[in-house]
Amino acid sequence: MNPDIPLQLLGGISAREFLRDYWQKKPLLIRQALPDFQSPIDADELAGLALEEEVESRIVLENGERPWELRRGPFTEDEFSKLPERDWTLLVQAVDQFVPEVSELLENFRFLSSWRVDDVMISFAVPGGSVGPHFDNYDVFLLQGQGKRHWQIGQMCDSETPLLKHADLRILSDFEATEEWTLEPGDMLYLPPRLAHCGVAVDDCMTYSVGFRAPSAAEVLTHFTDFLSQFLPDEERYTDADVQPVSDPHQIQRDALDRLKSLLAEHMSDERLLLTWFGQFMTEPRYPELVVGPELEEEDLFLSLEQGAILIRNPSARLAWSEVDDDLLLFASGQSRLLPGNLRELLKLICAADALHSENLGPWLADDYGRNLLCELVKQGSLGFADE
Ligand code: SIN
Ligand code: CO
Repeated sequence: MNPDIPLQLLGGISAREFLRDYWQKKPLLIRQALPDFQSPIDADELAGLALEEEVESRIVLENGERPWELRRGPFTEDEFSKLPERDWTLLVQAVDQFVPEVSELLENFRFLSSWRVDDVMISFAVPGGSVGPHFDNYDVFLLQGQGKRHWQIGQMCDSETPLLKHADLRILSDFEATEEWTLEPGDMLYLPPRLAHCGVAVDDCMTYSVGFRAPSAAEVLTHFTDFLSQFLPDEERYTDADVQPVSDPHQIQRDALDRLKSLLAEHMSDERLLLTWFGQFMTEPRYPELVVGPELEEEDLFLSLEQGAILIRNPSARLAWSEVDDDLLLFASGQSRLLPGNLRELLKLICAADALHSENLGPWLADDYGRNLLCELVKQGSLGFADE
């Protein structure tokens, strides 16, 4: 993808300009980002998903049993039939994992790394429906899918920003609207992290939130050090063979701190381990129970592909690749695999292709590593047969 061509999706600016001027910095309203956009799923189908056990869903009622009542799914048809006429929103998380047409929407955002994408949440609201003024800690593209929603944006927030006393929802006590727009189907609003916003349904409306993920510093430190510690033997400790006589035995001297800093620096700067951890962490699936595969022999996979079988990425799987020295790393749903450098094009194909078949896999099916890799990915559940 050429990063310098103007994109309708970004309101006529290029991906490079968008990243330079807006991404993580300021909001952007894009009229008709996806012209004539028609939601691939309707309100009933969305409500249908919210009946399912494995789907994460919520309903927010502005005037429920208490102000801003939060109900968690799965819901029943009976609960839906008892909802009031106004002022509620149904939110369904990760619809891209369950509806292929919704997952296809993500193709529009390929100018950003796929491992930064979290999910596509879809909300359905009746007139007046809103989740209240709030901020999110991640970037989001809010695409209007059906009906109209009135959006207001406000101040930049942080963890000190005052919130209403509410057990489950983080609603701002003070919201100062600075700009507002009514969005129609195909319009899209990009919001950077921590920008206060509030969307209110004008009529029955559906909004798609393409959300991004960025680990917090606390998560990076906790998870990376946990990962790292598996490789550190118990005898590897704080050492001070160079210590000098101390003037006060109760004082922690500066040189102790320096030794600690070098111990940390030595391990923290192991790039191979850092990359391995990061790739595994960022490809961990949201629903690991949906990433399971069958027992399979390499020979049988080869025969099936030769006979026209098609492999597709499991929509619940996450894939990414990277290079380390002359080798390659493939990350698949939280696992990593070190592979020889000659498999680069195969890894790119596996991560990017909608469908893998004997034609595009071509010579890779004759390569021992290539064949073994495909077989392992099917067994792990990251790839699956299209007709299953
Ligand atoms: C919504 O779709 O109603 C809320 C989305 C958001 O503000 O993050
Ligand atoms: Co939000």
